[in-house]
Amino acid sequence: MASFSLVRIAAGILLTSEAVREVFRVSWDGYYQHAFPHDSLRPVSNGYADDRNGWAASAVDALSTALVMGEWGIVDQILDYIPKIDFDRTADVVSLFETTIRYLGGLLSAYDLLTSPCFHKEAEQRRPHVGTILNQARWLADNLKVAFDTPSGVPDNMLRFGPPRKAGSTVNGIATAGTLVLEWTRLADLTGDSEYAELAQRAEAILLRPEPAGAAEPFPGLLGTELRIADGLFVDGNGGWGGGTDSFYEYLIKMRLYDRARFGGYAERWRAAADSSMRHLVSHPAARPDLTFLAGWHGPELRFASGHLACFHGGNFILGGLVLDEPRFVRFGLELVDGCRATYEATATGIGPETFAWQDASLPPDAPNNRPPPREQAAFYNTSGFWILDGRYALRPEVIESYYHAYRATGDKKYQGWAWEAFLRINATCRVGSGFSAIRDVNRPDGGGFSDFQESFWFAEVLKYSYLIHAEEAPWQVKADHTNEFVFNTEGHPIRLAGGSERSDIDRGNKGNKKATTGSRGCVSP
Ligand SMILES: *[C@@H]1O[C@H](CO)[C@@H](O)[C@H](O)[C@H]1NC(C)=O
Ligand SMILES: *[C@@H]1O[C@H](CO)[C@@H](O)[C@H](O)[C@H]1NC(C)=O
Repeated sequence: MASFSLVRIAAGILLTSEAVREVFRVSWDGYYQHAFPHDSLRPVSNGYADDRNGWAASAVDALSTALVMGEWGIVDQILDYIPKIDFDRTADVVSLFETTIRYLGGLLSAYDLLTSPCFHKEAEQRRPHVGTILNQARWLADNLKVAFDTPSGVPDNMLRFGPPRKAGSTVNGIATAGTLVLEWTRLADLTGDSEYAELAQRAEAILLRPEPAGAAEPFPGLLGTELRIADGLFVDGNGGWGGGTDSFYEYLIKMRLYDRARFGGYAERWRAAADSSMRHLVSHPAARPDLTFLAGWHGPELRFASGHLACFHGGNFILGGLVLDEPRFVRFGLELVDGCRATYEATATGIGPETFAWQDASLPPDAPNNRPPPREQAAFYNTSGFWILDGRYALRPEVIESYYHAYRATGDKKYQGWAWEAFLRINATCRVGSGFSAIRDVNRPDGGGFSDFQESFWFAEVLKYSYLIHAEEAPWQVKADHTNEFVFNTEGHPIRLAGGSERSDIDRGNKGNKKATTGSRGCVSP
């Protein structure tokens, strides 16, 4: 594929952010017309799905993106509906994790954005809605909190409502159990009710000291995947940075950013995981030793496979390096970003696959865990450095999310160019009917057909990061100089830091002469 070099003139900024905004509006209008207030749009058939309990998941997930874009018409359509969501009613099993990151995260983010000084005027005009958002978040959490009522404190991820009760799972995973603490701590901090924080932090504490020692932690900081709800003991020592484990590692450093005073210990665990990854998991494909991927593990044995979900890791290493002031993590994160970009560059659509594998350059090619590619992908592997295990693309954000962090850390416009290129390829391949759809095969020029599904995280993440990488400075943008005011939850919802900013002391000292951030919305930091 021809590499795209972005001429970053004023017109270019407008072109890129306006193009993302246009896609956001088209996706929203299709959803609003054909699916709202159900969860998700089926853009080919103009139908809907209630895949997230029927509480208007796409609307709640779109709200923080509409806010940072200043799409006030869409914001108002969503705000009008928030008070009508009935969090007591759902026919389906409720996932504590999905409900926390999408609904609770979306509501808390909307509250934090609307109460930020940036939106003072707009929030005044919508004052009754602002309090309602927090009340709805609290109602939802009050229904969810029965999940934590277990002997070990490890929550049951599966609930039924009416009345709320545990579905009776025996195990939970480190991603589903370890990606709650930001949202539940924020809710406690905003409401003054510490119970929410205590529940999530008690569960997290078990993940910070994994047992049985050794088996649960094959490399320092790198854990198994599942643990028993009855006693909090791990049942395996297999893991990776992908689905099922990913955001546990992500939140360790994000909690340190959220509140350095309370979560320094979490950062130590993140540093251990990051160091172990750089020491033990780093892998270069034999066919393309210039690329860097991270292997997974089965106990101490490596597995040379990864996927789109794991590609958040570049951005997470970069963020960790910025927050901890350790440039080696930023440098390594940028290498991981390059590796994930290679999975986009190689395919017929210019979009990376759901999962892929490679042969490690340093192990013998006949080692049992280092098999060659299947014959039909050998030529593809020789030039690309990976072969495709699962060629679907589900409108996932992680590669663009990592480009966003790479750009914010380095200011290198190359990453804006990469994000724009990915956005154009997704627009060219996934746009269909009344919106955008997941596709079946990224390595066929037409995408191999549409699965007729527009995920809610399309709004929350893909379009937010695609927009923000080209957008002007704003308090919610990731900062490279310890002036962050927000931290993004794993669903891309910006949550305000506990102290208001990363260096609240410095901000206070500089208040008198701090330059106002200029912007079209007149957004000024406090
Ligand atoms: C791929 O590269 C290997 C090693 O150089 C070579 O033996 C093999 O023939 C190549 N396969 C194809 C299909 O190009
Ligand atoms: C996105 O796709 C639509 C439909 O093919 C096209 O009209 C539009 O120009 C594309 N947007 C960009 C920025 O290329």
